Amino acid sequence: MMTSRLFAIAVSFFLLASATAQEILITPKPVSGVAGKGMFVIKQNAGIKTAAGSMKSATFLKDYLSKMYGVSTNVNGKGKADIELKIAAKNNAIKGAYHLSVTGKHISVIGDDEEGVFYGVQSLIQLLPVQKTGTVSVPAVEVADAPRFAYRGAHLDVGRHFFDVDFVKKYIDLLAMYKLNVFHWHLTEDQGWRIEIKKYPELTQIGSKRNGEITGHYPGQGNDNKPSSGYYTQEQVKDIVAYAAARYITVIPEIEMPGHGSAAIAAYPSLSCFPKRVTPLPINMVSMESVKQAQKENRVKFVQETWGVFDDVFCAGKDSTFIFLQNVLDEIIPLFPAKYIHIGGDECPKTNWKQCPLCQKRMKENSLKDEHALQSYFIGRMEKYINSKGKSIIGWDEILEGGLAPNATVMSWRGEQGGIEAAKQHHDVVMTPGSNCYFDHSNSKNEDSLTIGGLLPIETVYSYNPVPAALSAEEGKYIIGVQANLWTEYMSNPAKVEYMLLPRLSAMSEVQWTAPENKSWADFQPRLLHEFKKYDWMGLNYCPVYLKENKN
Ligand code: ACM
Ligand code: ZN
Repeated sequence: MMTSRLFAIAVSFFLLASATAQEILITPKPVSGVAGKGMFVIKQNAGIKTAAGSMKSATFLKDYLSKMYGVSTNVNGKGKADIELKIAAKNNAIKGAYHLSVTGKHISVIGDDEEGVFYGVQSLIQLLPVQKTGTVSVPAVEVADAPRFAYRGAHLDVGRHFFDVDFVKKYIDLLAMYKLNVFHWHLTEDQGWRIEIKKYPELTQIGSKRNGEITGHYPGQGNDNKPSSGYYTQEQVKDIVAYAAARYITVIPEIEMPGHGSAAIAAYPSLSCFPKRVTPLPINMVSMESVKQAQKENRVKFVQETWGVFDDVFCAGKDSTFIFLQNVLDEIIPLFPAKYIHIGGDECPKTNWKQCPLCQKRMKENSLKDEHALQSYFIGRMEKYINSKGKSIIGWDEILEGGLAPNATVMSWRGEQGGIEAAKQHHDVVMTPGSNCYFDHSNSKNEDSLTIGGLLPIETVYSYNPVPAALSAEEGKYIIGVQANLWTEYMSNPAKVEYMLLPRLSAMSEVQWTAPENKSWADFQPRLLHEFKKYDWMGLNYCPVYLKENKN
């Protein structure tokens, strides 16, 4: 929501801004920007003046200038203040508004709050040259800016493929560059449990390892027979959460339940409705090692080696399942200061529950009319526990089935319908429909690498408006934001993640930050070309399809 001060600035700059917008290479596009005359050169030993609330931003700027340009700066030293960062406190509903002023003599960033100072610094950084040689000059500009949505997220699935701490930090850096403020960390999956839980060491000793994975597109052409493993220790998690916090990014952990639990079940088979029943694996797609373990060691549960959805889910009939998950959450909650815990809730087949006497008994005792109601019971029971610890739940839109848990936020992924229903029921919603937000889909019809399928060109990301016309103005307020999702079945290494993320994240950031009336594809494109130059300079991998298709 725009503050009245920003609105006044926006109106007064409107005409000028439209004439000069293309020269102001800030993405996501700010509320207003007016190019001035001349430039400011940031010289060696430039002074940065700041106060306590903006110290994190000052440190970020200092480190960036040093790392990228070899320019040292003095923070709150004796000399003159070339760059001033400060807060003029405002109580905006959505944090992050700022004013950036660059003249020939001085740079100032004034945030309405700490976040605002940080985003002003990101805009300042975007105006710096995309080369190391020559002067570090910033074109004169007046920018007034504020975000559209409070929740601006990107997700990363580290279950299908594991990514190490350094890459997770690099990913967080990319989110920060585009003023995102939520990193949704998908930590548990059928193909890998990725976070240390001290009470249950086998979750990582067994659940973070697999003996191979399918080759080619699902259902696969065979198995690569390459063992893989990986998890984050709790110390590493704390380090990543602090790294994100220094960039005003909240980390939301996702602990999947009741589906997508094969890795946990491989470690603790009693979580399954049928602990002695063999994990059904497509016969030609299993690694030799798993076949051997099944035959020689009588192992029946395995971390999955293929993709998809599996019937072996957490048993909803045993109290021990809930106790296990509560114990896991008792270790998760202190690691993450976020208000939210994501509990998954998606793609939970009801096959086993229909056959399981304990699940059926639970349904009878609680007068639950079907297995969807049992899923709702499961989520509601976990929500109560999570609420009792002072946290709220987010879940994928399947948590609507059988009745929404009372305080749940819904992540609408199977289109917008779930989000619309939830908003009408006055629940908060994060929009993330596959049609516009699934970055595992191909960048173009001529995709040059294997993807899960689907098509999501950058134009389609850019065109998205997350507040559906079907909602009234009042209901629309329940759409708290929008998120890009990166499911990594077909992203086995960091370069591929970068390829699928960039440049689509730049378009997504504008969906998240910029009001629709201020957005235009024509205006975005010159800035997009600049982003490609930046990626080259920063050594980032990206999808070049836009460049190839728009050569003229
Ligand atoms: C999902 O894509 N299964 C939430
Ligand atoms: Zn059961």
